[in-house]
Amino acid sequence: MGNVLTVENLSTYFKTDKGIAKAVEDVSFTVKKGEMLGLIGESGCGKTTVAQSILRLIEYPGKVVNGKAILDGKDLIGATDQELVDRRWKEISVIPQSAMNALNPVYSVGEQIVESILLHEKVSRQDAIKRTKDLLELVGIDGGRWKSYPHEFSGGMKQRVAIAMALSCNPKLVISDESTTGLDVLTQAQVIALIKKLQRTLDLSVILISHDLPMVTAICDRIAIMYAGKIIEWSSTTDILEDARHPYSQGLLNATPDLANPDKEVISIPGSVPNLINPPEGCRFHPRCQFAMDRCKKEVPVLKEVKKGHFAACFLEESDVNG
Ligand SMILES: Nc1ncnc2c1ncn2[C@@H]1O[C@H](COP(=O)(O)OP(=O)(O)OP(=O)(O)O)[C@@H](O)[C@H]1O
Ligand code: SF4
Ligand SMILES: [Mg+2]
Repeated sequence: MGNVLTVENLSTYFKTDKGIAKAVEDVSFTVKKGEMLGLIGESGCGKTTVAQSILRLIEYPGKVVNGKAILDGKDLIGATDQELVDRRWKEISVIPQSAMNALNPVYSVGEQIVESILLHEKVSRQDAIKRTKDLLELVGIDGGRWKSYPHEFSGGMKQRVAIAMALSCNPKLVISDESTTGLDVLTQAQVIALIKKLQRTLDLSVILISHDLPMVTAICDRIAIMYAGKIIEWSSTTDILEDARHPYSQGLLNATPDLANPDKEVISIPGSVPNLINPPEGCRFHPRCQFAMDRCKKEVPVLKEVKKGHFAACFLEESDVNG
C-alpha cells in the first residue's frame, strides 16, 4: 500500500511576546492510501498545528520553518499560492471542528456545496447539483433537502453537510480535527461511524485528530502520539494497544478507563504539558517520566524503528537494543 502523504521533518513555530513557541518540532510520519491515522496527545501538544501546517493554513505569527508534506508526490509546504488553490479540496480537505463556522447561514446547504464544486472544477451547474444531492445521500441526508438552510438542520446534520462539503471534489486525504466537538455523545458516535464508513467505501485516507483515545483505538488503522510538539511513538493500533514502548504512550493508555475491563486501575500522568516557548532540555517528557535517566535531561531521543513499522523516541529502547 503506497503512501498518500509523507511528512518529513516538519517544524512550525509561533512568535509570541514571551519568545518563540516551538509548537511542532521535527515531525515525520506517513499516511497510506485508504488508511485512517489517528493523531493523539494532550491539549497543547501540537496536533492542530501539524494539520494546519499540512493544509498551509498557518498564518502570522506562526510559520512553518522547516519540512515537507508530500501529497501524491508533490510538496505542499513549498507549493505556490496558485498550486494550493488548485490542490485544496481536490487533493486534500478538512472537516472543521464546528460546522457552524463552515456553513454560511444565508445560503442553502446545497448551494454552498454546489458553489464549492463549481469553484474548483469545470463542470456544469446541473452536474454540480446532481453531485451535491448524491453527496448528501452519501452522508445520510435526503438529497431532496439540498435547498434547506443550515438553521433547518440539527447539529449532527450540519456536521454531515460539512463532511459532504469536504468530499465534494473527491480529495485523496481528509483531515478531521476534533470534528465532533460540541455534539452530544450519541451524535458524536454517529458522525465518527460515518467518517469511518466513508473512509472504507471511498478508499479515502483520513487523519483523525482527537483526544478520545478509546474512539481512536476503535477505528484507526495506525496511531501517532504527540507530546510537546513531537511525535514520540507511532505504529499500528494493535501495537500501540498491546506493546506501547514510550512511557508517555503507556501513561495515556493507563489514564484511559476501559469499558471492557471496569476493574482496571486508572492512573493519570503526573504534571502537565510544558510551555513550548521554553520546553525542557533533552527529552521533553523527562520531568514527568518515572524512568528518566541522566542522559534524558541532556540528549534528545529520536524516533527509531523498534520493530517493523513501530517507531518510538525513548532511550529505554536503545538500552534494550544495546543490551
Ligand atoms: N496562534 C498561536 N500563537 C501562539 N502560539 C500558538 C498559537 N497556536 C498554537 N500555539 C502554540 O502551539 C502549541 C500547540 O497548539 P495546538 O493547537 O497545535 O495543540 P493541540 O494539540 O491541537 O491542542 P488541543 O488538543 O487543545 O486542540 C500550543 O501549546 C502553543 O504553544
Ligand atoms: S527518553 Fe528518558 S525521559 Fe524520555 S520517555 Fe524515555 S526514559 Fe522517559
Ligand atoms: Mg487542536
